[in-house]
Amino acid sequence: MDAPILTATSLSWAPQDSPERLVLAEVSLSLEPGEFVTVMGPSGSGKTTLLHLLGGLEEPTQGTVLLGGEDLFAKGTRRRTLLRRRFLGYVFQFFQLLPDLTVRENIVLPLLIAGKDPGLYLQEIKEVVDVLDLAHLLDRQPHGLSGGEMQRVGIARALAQRPPVLLCDEPTGNLSTKAGEETMQFFSRVRDRYGLSILLVTHNPRDAAFGDRVLFLRDGRLDPSHSLTGPGLNAAAVFSRLEELSI
Ligand SMILES: Nc1ncnc2c1ncn2[C@@H]1O[C@H](COP(=O)(O)OP(=O)(O)OP(=O)(O)O)[C@@H](O)[C@H]1O
Ligand SMILES: [Mg+2]
Repeated sequence: MDAPILTATSLSWAPQDSPERLVLAEVSLSLEPGEFVTVMGPSGSGKTTLLHLLGGLEEPTQGTVLLGGEDLFAKGTRRRTLLRRRFLGYVFQFFQLLPDLTVRENIVLPLLIAGKDPGLYLQEIKEVVDVLDLAHLLDRQPHGLSGGEMQRVGIARALAQRPPVLLCDEPTGNLSTKAGEETMQFFSRVRDRYGLSILLVTHNPRDAAFGDRVLFLRDGRLDPSHSLTGPGLNAAAVFSRLEELSI
């Protein structure tokens, strides 16, 4: 097996003003190239905090994150930013689209921010737009799009630089059940198409069941012996594991 693309070792985090309050306690996990892992946890269990640490947006109180074998927090801010750009795309619950830009402009924004000429990436962008079925929406602005369409724009934007890893925070949290399920299918589709690795946090068992592996986060702790994987992995299995764990 290849080396993991992302490895977190013993990550802990507490707010600076109350260091005794561990929001995350010694969380370890790894993500293999091409793997789709979901982290299931109730509200307040530390899912967003975990993604912020894995994405280098927040420094852990303890522990390390390796991205492509490089230590994310051993670097200065600038090198950390470059590492994040090279390896990570981020998909948000509230889409975070810029309302005054068109869909096309929203999608290419990360390239512009990284100082790249979108004209050199036309083929890549077209392919992402096709995979996410956005071609007919490129000249529209976000308002007036359905939630599912907005999230597809969010996914396309995250893929603009072709990162090997997508981090997704509750990406169906603002969608109807139907749009949420479609969005999850789009994640499976981009994983298959690009062979990228996805780490997606959710409190929805049906979403969690889209993963190749489901990890369970409870009160900031992640016990690997609780994880689910293999052919029996479906929403019913996730529901019953939640009951066993009294989550
Ligand atoms: N900067 C902070 N200062 C103090 N407490 C914080 C801070 N950030 C997060 N917390 C606390 O840590 C806990 C976990 O928060 P987090 O946002 O990671 O949970 P979550 O699992 O993403 O929840 P949700 O499903 O509601 O999004 C919460 O109790 C939250 O109040
Ligand atoms: Mg959250």
